[in-house]
Amino acid sequence: MNDVLINKTTSYFQNAFGSSPEKVVLSPGRINIIGEHIDYNDGYVLPAAIDKIICFAFKKNNSNSSRIIAIDFDDEFEIDLTEIPQLEEKVWTNYLRGVINQLKINGFEFKGFDCVFSSNIPIGSGLSSSAALECGFLFGINELFNLNIKPIDIALMGQKSEHWVGINCGIMDQFSSVMGVENKVIKIDCKTLEYEYHEADFSDYSLILFDSNVTHSLFTSAYNKRREECETGLTIIKNHFAEVNSYRDCTVSQVLSLKNEMSEDVFKRSHFVVNEISRVTQACEALDNGNIKLLGQLMLETHEGLSSEYEVSCAELDFLVNTLKTEKAVVGSRLMGGGFGGCTINLIQKGHEEEIKDKLSQLYFEEFGIELKIYDVKIGNGTSLYTKN
Ligand code: GLA
Repeated sequence: MNDVLINKTTSYFQNAFGSSPEKVVLSPGRINIIGEHIDYNDGYVLPAAIDKIICFAFKKNNSNSSRIIAIDFDDEFEIDLTEIPQLEEKVWTNYLRGVINQLKINGFEFKGFDCVFSSNIPIGSGLSSSAALECGFLFGINELFNLNIKPIDIALMGQKSEHWVGINCGIMDQFSSVMGVENKVIKIDCKTLEYEYHEADFSDYSLILFDSNVTHSLFTSAYNKRREECETGLTIIKNHFAEVNSYRDCTVSQVLSLKNEMSEDVFKRSHFVVNEISRVTQACEALDNGNIKLLGQLMLETHEGLSSEYEVSCAELDFLVNTLKTEKAVVGSRLMGGGFGGCTINLIQKGHEEEIKDKLSQLYFEEFGIELKIYDVKIGNGTSLYTKN
C-alpha cells in the first residue's frame, strides 16, 4: 500500500521539478491504546505509530524560497524563507509554516528546497495526520541540511508548530509519530518524556478502528478549554494538598474531597484524569501479562469517562461503542484521540472481525445515514528516511 504512495509522490516530484528527489521521508499517523487527554496532564499514555503514512519528497533548490505541493489537495504554496512565516487562511499550509517558524526561532540555518507530499492517513479521523505532517516535514529539512536535530526535539518542535496553528496539544502524537517502532506500543511518561517500548501482542484479538466519518467543528475550542479546566482543577488540588505537583501525585479521594470547591465541570475533568492515569498503568501491565480482557475492560471504562466526565464524545462515537460493548466477541472499544468525531479503537476476537464489521456498518448507517469507515491498522515504525532496497 505504501509503495504505491511512495511511487506516486516521487514521480510527481520528478514531473513537477524535472529531477529526482534527494530525500524521501515517511512519517506515520498514530493510534492510542489508552491514556486519552492525559499527555497535557503529565500522565502516561500508550500510543503507537501505524502503517498509514505521509510520504514527502525533497530536494534543495539553491534559492531562498520553497515550493511545496500537496498532491492530495491539488494545491501548493511558495514561501520566502528569509521572512518570518505568518498564519495564513489555508490551514494545511500553516502546519508547515509553523515548522519553518520553529526552525527560524531556534536559530537553524537552511536554504530553499522543493517538496511534494501525499498521504494515506485519513484526515480528521483522530489518527494525527497533522503530527505526521509536522514531524515528517521537519525530519526532511533536518536531513536535507544536516541540522542535527535529535528525534525527541523533532517531536517537541512539531508540537510547538501545532500550538502555533492554535491547538494547545500535548506531546503524544508527535512523540509517537517520531519514535514509533514496528509491533511495539510506547509507554510515554509525558512529564519527564521517558519512554519504554512494550510488545504490542493482543493475543487472540485484532485491533480495528471504526471511523465515525464525522468531524465536529468545536474540536479546537473544546480541546483548549479542557486543558484550561484541568489546569484550574490542579490549582485547586495543589492549594489543599501541598504534596501534589501534578495529577499523577493525586488520589481519587483527594479529588472527591474537593468536589464542593470546584465547578461541576472542573470536578468531572479532574476526576477523569486521575482515574485515567491509573488505568494506563493497569492497562500496560495487562498487555504485558497477555490479559487482553482486562485491557479491553479498561478501554471501556475510559470511553465511559471520556463520554460522561470529560465530555469529548458525541452521539456517533457513543453509538459505535455502546453497540459493540454487548457483543461477546468485542472485549474493548473506546473513542480514540481528541474526540468529537474520528475513530473508535476496538479489540475484536479473531475470526469474528468480518461479522462485527458488517453488523456495525449496517446499524450505523440505519441510525445516522453515514457510511462507517474501517481500518485494520498495523503498528509501524516512526518517521524515517526511505531507501530503496
Ligand atoms: C489530540 C492531541 C494529543 C492528545 C489527544 C487526546 O490528539 O494532539 O496531544 O491530547 O488529542 O489524548
